[in-house]
Amino acid sequence: MTATRSRSARLHIVGAGGLGRETLDAAFACGHRPSGLVLVDDHVSLTELHGVPVRRPEESADGWYVVAVADPAVRRSLSERMLGRGLIPSVVVHPTATVAHDVSVAGGCIVLANTYVATGSHVAAHTQVQYNATVGHDSVLHDYVTVLPGANVAGRVVLHGDVTVGSNACVLPGLVIGAGTYIGAGAVVTGNLPARRVAKGVPARMHPPAGGKV
Ligand SMILES: CC(C)(COP(=O)(O)OP(=O)(O)OC[C@H]1O[C@@H](n2cnc3c(N)ncnc32)[C@H](O)[C@@H]1OP(=O)(O)O)[C@@H](O)C(=O)NCCC(=O)NCCS
Repeated sequence: MTATRSRSARLHIVGAGGLGRETLDAAFACGHRPSGLVLVDDHVSLTELHGVPVRRPEESADGWYVVAVADPAVRRSLSERMLGRGLIPSVVVHPTATVAHDVSVAGGCIVLANTYVATGSHVAAHTQVQYNATVGHDSVLHDYVTVLPGANVAGRVVLHGDVTVGSNACVLPGLVIGAGTYIGAGAVVTGNLPARRVAKGVPARMHPPAGGKV
């Protein structure tokens, strides 16, 4: 599942916060060694973590990357910075993730431990399926979608770009969620949702405007 890399090119994990460290752990579990990894962050004072060097974005060049930041707008901005420096999107899929044989996982995606992505699904670029989350059969996750820990996206669901599904939320089968919409933790989504709204509760109700906290 991980994209092919030349021997010298290193995998850059962009973001050294909690999700960055979870992604680093997934990379170790995949067999990456510290010498093949770089953490990238604008804001940390660390120079090294678990033997992996920590660099600033402007010091990154020649390699592969994933952006380990949950906010889709920040993720997009950092991804564009990495692309601008000539890096190529890669994929990190934890070895305990179950991704069906016919699922396509595009560049930039992060799939953490104990996830399940069912047959016929498509996971588009820079999407994240975080630990213990599930995605049912024939679902489509567009670019920069974030499925937070423990969330359950049922079968035949379409999550348009930049959608976030909060921890332990549930999206019922066949629903379509508009771009940029944020589903709160623990929500049960029982109907289609338009773009750029916040929905929370059981059953989920919309609360404009869009926004939210991770
Ligand atoms: C739904 C969410 C985006 C709302 O954020 P917000 O608009 O900033 O909400 P606030 O914190 O200002 O709370 C506003 C109200 O909504 C309620 N609320 C907040 N989140 C809620 C949720 N998930 N379900 C139900 N009610 C919620 C608050 O209790 C508060 O109610 P009150 O007005 O009666 O006091 C956010 O709370 C959330 O659920 N984020 C998901 C975070 C997540 O899953 N993180 C995982 C990290 S690993």
